[in-house]
Amino acid sequence: MKLLVIAGARPNFMKIAPLIRCLNKRKSENDDVSVSVDYRIVHTGQHYDQAMSQRFFDELQIPAPDFDLAVGSSSHASQTANIMTKFEPVCEEVRPDWVLVVGDVNSTMACTLVASKMGIKVAHLEAGLRSFDRSMPEEINRLVTDALADLLLTPSQDADENLKREGVPAAKIRFVGNIMIDSLTGNLEKMHSCTILDDLGVKPGEFVYVTLHRPGNVDSSTVLSTIIERIRQISEHLDIVFPMHPRTRKMLTQFNIGVNGHRALKIVEPVGYLESLSLSDNARFVLTDSGGIQEETTFFRTPCLTLRPNTERPVTISLGSNRLTHIDGISVDVQNILRGPIKIGSVPPLWDGQTSDRVLSSLLDASGF
Ligand code: UD1
Repeated sequence: MKLLVIAGARPNFMKIAPLIRCLNKRKSENDDVSVSVDYRIVHTGQHYDQAMSQRFFDELQIPAPDFDLAVGSSSHASQTANIMTKFEPVCEEVRPDWVLVVGDVNSTMACTLVASKMGIKVAHLEAGLRSFDRSMPEEINRLVTDALADLLLTPSQDADENLKREGVPAAKIRFVGNIMIDSLTGNLEKMHSCTILDDLGVKPGEFVYVTLHRPGNVDSSTVLSTIIERIRQISEHLDIVFPMHPRTRKMLTQFNIGVNGHRALKIVEPVGYLESLSLSDNARFVLTDSGGIQEETTFFRTPCLTLRPNTERPVTISLGSNRLTHIDGISVDVQNILRGPIKIGSVPPLWDGQTSDRVLSSLLDASGF
């Protein structure tokens, strides 16, 4: 079985890493298995900074990509078109049985479109999530990818329900669990030896971990300056660790919004995977608009405030430690968290570190092996 595994942007790398590990293990342990799975990695280059890409390959021990499309940043249409144009010849050369895409970034949708039109089967890992908010580019990517995919691998039961409601036949859907948690549990030991807290001079349970990059939060001058003001207010009581995404930094500069001069507000470069896990585990609470961090804080049972009107990951609220917040409600929500326990919520079903095995079994099963 020939498989092309696609990754393009930062949140993809921790999703492909455990799967690659699983494929390598199968190869080394079972040379005599009846079906060999030959995989190649495609990096679209949607993210390209060392801190947004190569660092994750190194930390997560992902082999170097077999194909690097190096598309870089541009508008949605140009980026999607560039990925499609450069991915088509890869499909022609390799002629894979499956293209496996993860998550909801432009690379996910672009490669799905190419493969589907070439008659190559597509497996979508992290299928079925819906924010029901089409102003988010990711929601469009999810809808297109899931409409075309042949195998829909879901992280939670709400995702299965969404897909069935959209008319996807049950036979195409497999509830495999959350692949992010495979990466997380596989790196706990390394995370414990990470020195980021000491490096930044913060203590466990006494700081807030902030990450923000969604266009809805950072692409408007008024919204972004109000959010920065709210964060400054929190920094009067607690240290803030705020690794800044390149999009956010670019917008702060463009809008001429100053962030320096506050001792407790530590604005740093984007952190690596292990550092981010350590910050999520040890923060008093997290303020974010990231999808993955909503899931990681749920696993760590760290209170999380998601600065968005909705989430495509409702299980992080119904079972986990996540709550939605908005700029006018942050202060009250923060006070509520600080009055409550340090760890809250529970871990959803099949967020158990075994998802990559279930993905591989589903792929083999769907191929008739
Ligand atoms: C993308 C994903 C988003 C995901 C996020 C995680 C889409 C539509 N969006 O958003 O779902 O949550 O990644 O990070 O696919 N830039 C750099 N260096 C890089 C990459 C980007 O400086 O390595 C800058 C560029 O100025 C670029 C901007 O960041 O224009 C935005 O990058 P882009 O990939 O378009 O979207 P993200 O906001 O990163």
